[in-house]
Amino acid sequence: MEYKQISYCFKEISDMEDINIRGWIHRLRKQKDNIFLTLRDSTGLIQCVLPRNEEYDKITVESSVELSGKVVPDERSPGGYELRGESMKIVGLAENYPIRKDFSTEFLNDVRHLWNRSTRMQNINKVRHELLKSAREWFDNSGWYEVSPPILNKSACEGGSTLFEVNYFDDKAFLSQSAQLYLEAMIYTLEDVWSLTPSFRAEKSKTPRHLAEYWHLEGEKAWTNFDEILTVEEQLISHISNNVAERRYKELEALGRDPEDLKKITVPFEKIPYKEVIKFLQKKGKNIQFGDDLGTDEERLLTIDRDKPIFIYGCPRKIKPFYTKIDSKDEKMVLSADMIAPKGFGEISTGGQREENLENIVDRLKEEGFNPTDYAWYLDLRRYGSVPHSGFGFGVERLVKWMCNLEHIRDTIPFPRTMKRAYP
Ligand code: 4AD
Ligand code: MG
Repeated sequence: MEYKQISYCFKEISDMEDINIRGWIHRLRKQKDNIFLTLRDSTGLIQCVLPRNEEYDKITVESSVELSGKVVPDERSPGGYELRGESMKIVGLAENYPIRKDFSTEFLNDVRHLWNRSTRMQNINKVRHELLKSAREWFDNSGWYEVSPPILNKSACEGGSTLFEVNYFDDKAFLSQSAQLYLEAMIYTLEDVWSLTPSFRAEKSKTPRHLAEYWHLEGEKAWTNFDEILTVEEQLISHISNNVAERRYKELEALGRDPEDLKKITVPFEKIPYKEVIKFLQKKGKNIQFGDDLGTDEERLLTIDRDKPIFIYGCPRKIKPFYTKIDSKDEKMVLSADMIAPKGFGEISTGGQREENLENIVDRLKEEGFNPTDYAWYLDLRRYGSVPHSGFGFGVERLVKWMCNLEHIRDTIPFPRTMKRAYP
């Protein structure tokens, strides 16, 4: 038997066509003579009506079924069409489904394996898919190579405090915080490289924008200076935003994001020096000093009235890692930039130019409390044919949160991992 997807019922069908569809019972209402149900598949929902009988009466919410009937125009149905069912086969009869209306967030997190079936999560996951597809497209079209860096590593990239340690046979290893150092190694053979990997941060804070495991979209480019890498970042984000808006218009609208907002994300983005940002925040009454890192509140204040992301660039070296390039014009500063999403969504990427000077890197590794011997392989990269290079890393979930207009990062990924949760 040939099965059509639900979207077919709304697009390509000729009136009164006989059709077979299959999916899950999303909603169910039994009346005297008829059963009214909404069927769900990966493409959407359709209202169906079926005469009652003993067999059909067994069905329950979230049962999987195959339905045969005719699709007819019906003004009262969402989407304007309804399936007049003639026969139904129950494939998997569902037990009493635990999710009904009005459950607490905590409960929905406990049953995330089921909650992923909700229209809201389906929409988010479709946007997420489109976002990743668009990113890959951009890198492909721009001639970058996708590479696969390791996840189990012997040394840290982003400071010691958020490292996850794991047993590694008779030794110890760490889960990757960033693929950056390995991407840097790969520019010597492929020049422009990118990767999409899980990154791990043992963040001891419970915030709406931190995960313990997140997906990291990173790029590293040879022969590239600071200004040039910011241009790459903004082009990439503009491409992703515009594409997601165009291809997932319906889903974004359903999530409460006006897709037109994302169509307006065009290059260039405004670039504001860190020093100016501190002055601005002080004027707004924030208790922040030169040398401090920006928190959620500060980032919100800075971008709440903006429609496009901005860069904060030129940061004090003491708040940035050992690999950031020291600014030749001011030794206290480094060539690093954070991209901050508009309307208070906060940091979505950090990027910049990499230090080439071996002694500087060794000194700063020591300042951070690392043993340079653990980084011998990385230091080799500066010994054999070093070139100016720059790169960046975007948090995929931060991007999804912004583009879908979500309050909490946990909804951006099917199975979130936070300080309090590694289940289900
Ligand atoms: O700012 P971060 O720590 O920078 C790096 O890891 C660089 N090595 C990247 C590079 O240059 N290749 O992390 C990069 C981005 C952040 O801007 C944020 O979007 C995301 O990763 N991120 C997190 N997302 C979710 N949960 C967390 N705990 C995150 N920590 C960072
Ligand atoms: Mg950062």
